[in-house]
Amino acid sequence: MNILAIESSCDETAAAVITDGMHIVSNIVASSHEMHEKYGGIVPEVAARMQLASIIPTITESLGPLGTPSESLLTRIIRHIDAIAVTVGPGLIGSLLVGVETAKTIAMTADKPIIPVNHVLAHMYANFVNTKLSDENNKATKREKSEIQFPAISLVVSGGHTELYLMKNKKELVWLGGTIDDAAGECFDKTARLLGFGHGGGPAIQNAASKSGVSLHGTTPFTNVLPRPMLGGDNLHNFSFSGLKTAILRQVESLRNTNSLTEQAINELSYEVQETITDVLVKKTLRAAEIYGTPSILLSGGVSANNRLREKFAYHIEKDGLPITLSAPPVPLCTDNAVYIGSYAYFRGKAVNWKDINAYPDLSVEVTR
Ligand code: KG4
Ligand code: ZN
Repeated sequence: MNILAIESSCDETAAAVITDGMHIVSNIVASSHEMHEKYGGIVPEVAARMQLASIIPTITESLGPLGTPSESLLTRIIRHIDAIAVTVGPGLIGSLLVGVETAKTIAMTADKPIIPVNHVLAHMYANFVNTKLSDENNKATKREKSEIQFPAISLVVSGGHTELYLMKNKKELVWLGGTIDDAAGECFDKTARLLGFGHGGGPAIQNAASKSGVSLHGTTPFTNVLPRPMLGGDNLHNFSFSGLKTAILRQVESLRNTNSLTEQAINELSYEVQETITDVLVKKTLRAAEIYGTPSILLSGGVSANNRLREKFAYHIEKDGLPITLSAPPVPLCTDNAVYIGSYAYFRGKAVNWKDINAYPDLSVEVTR
């Protein structure tokens, strides 16, 4: 079954064709990062206008491997596509509408079923995609996808979400908890901006941290160790990162006031921020796996691209001899794309009448099955 998947919930415009939820035929992502760099963040109207301009070229390119050059876009869809999948939320309303209205138009014109997709839940399905994308440093992807055993604890950690799920199988999901304020990715991004790295800062923090000279598993040289929020107490499966953001701001201000915000201090602070966020994510996720006795942990979302996060999970599982298999998508499938939208649609989606499809910016991520 060939699904044409469309994703436009935030600043990316993406289209992909995926067969049987697992095989990538094409994966096209157009990003407006340069524009956001210029304005110091995502300006929703700017993002939506750029997406409007790029959605048809992106879809056209994604259909490139199918059919012959003489076939029109519509002919290719009619002949080679079985269903359309589209992100309906959560996300920015203007951005979502671009994908949703385009998908509805295609579904109606080509007379194809259309499957609405929840972007946050879909992230985790990147773990079920077969891929030849090489990812040498990532032990978690050197594994056949069929090895994933259920039930699994699934951590979705992105720019807008930090959520824990119990995945009973590819269809049944139970939301266990999530962030009560900011997402982990937002904490990375705000820190990057504070330290002068600009927009989309997780990779910049990772890079700066790697230059700090601190050996992995060593102790941090940074004298003011940041708080690790919500590790104990009743908030077993919830997260909170807004207090940490404030603590980081204080550190930067104090370094600035004493003229000590040197390159080395920036690298060390980046290291400490990365350690703090990954400590919280790893400990809480391993705890959930222990409580539910799951043989697998699935990582997904932009922050799961972080090499220290992956390394730390693998380290603790090995050190403590835990009977857990770790799975994480290759880095290009962690950040936003349409491949996992198509995979989710195949494994868990339900086709609806195109007239019933709408954009839902606040679509709930709390599911019970
Ligand atoms: O999943 P995603 O592409 O978009 C959302 O759905 O939000 O995630 C984007 C987030 C951003 O906060 C970005 O800084 C973060 O993922 N990110 C990373 C890394 N790569 C992307 N955070 C830490 N380390 C990385 N290597
Ligand atoms: Zn995302």
